[in-house]
Amino acid sequence: MSITQATVFAPASVGNVAIGFDILGFAVDSLGDKITVSRRAEPGVGISRIHGIAGELPTDPTRNTAGQALLAMCEGLKLPFGFTMEIEKGIPLGSGLGGSAASAVGAVVAGNAVLPEPVSKLELLKFAMQGEAVASGSLHVDNIAPSLFGGLVLTVGIDHPRVKQIPVPPDVRAVIMHPHMFLSTKQARSILKRTVDLSDFVWQTANLAGFISGCYTNDLDMIRASLEDVVIEPQRQALIPGFQEVRRAAMEAGALGCSISGAGPTMFAWVRESNATAVRDAMRGEFERKSIQLDEWIVAIESAGARVIES
Ligand code: HSE
Repeated sequence: MSITQATVFAPASVGNVAIGFDILGFAVDSLGDKITVSRRAEPGVGISRIHGIAGELPTDPTRNTAGQALLAMCEGLKLPFGFTMEIEKGIPLGSGLGGSAASAVGAVVAGNAVLPEPVSKLELLKFAMQGEAVASGSLHVDNIAPSLFGGLVLTVGIDHPRVKQIPVPPDVRAVIMHPHMFLSTKQARSILKRTVDLSDFVWQTANLAGFISGCYTNDLDMIRASLEDVVIEPQRQALIPGFQEVRRAAMEAGALGCSISGAGPTMFAWVRESNATAVRDAMRGEFERKSIQLDEWIVAIESAGARVIES
């Protein structure tokens, strides 16, 4: 007899990681969404309550990332029963920390926990992607996959996604800076050019390959040389007040790289553990100079991904 109710914590995430636009991301356990799903006899999905730091989200499941993800699960698995869901938002909306993805992931992991025959994480990834599309207007996996699997995650393919958890050198930490402003992912995507210069394509490809190989071989010099976005960041940086100053301060303080978290406005830096606080202080100082309020975290990239915390 399977359980009929489960609560899941789904972590926030940093999408893109500078060089893997729409395909690379890492989970951030310091904040996340909590989703409680109960099984009900009536097919379909109902959202009973949304609370926490973003309670104004739509309770119509077709307009809600978590609701749409669960509906995709009901349809994909042809379930004869339905779900009721409660959402506690812990990730600010429009922060670039993967809030919509975390809700979608939390919903399908909690839904899966109350299924008589649970399905694989790869199946859940596809359902969660349908939910994420409600918020961003496109199918992408760079937040969904790390929130679901944990750690630094590369996803290849959309229809038949292949997921790879990339090892992160043990000395690496991430500094995360969330300025208190809202930036819509749809808007930050709409400003992007549809074409890429050939020279930028070569540079960005080398950077992605260099970064991944640096992670596998524990080569921090390679990571430092390659953790730079030459395609998306130049187009988006104007959306974040103080971006250039904050990035320069991080690099001068010894960061391995510093860029936009997802679509922004949150910024992240990869650092050695020994200079994590120096980089954080340098970045904070620049935001403060602009009188921008923020939250900040220093994290190891070792989240276990979304998990049941109560059933
Ligand atoms: N990768 C997407 C973007 C979603 O940058 O637009 C944000 O995580």
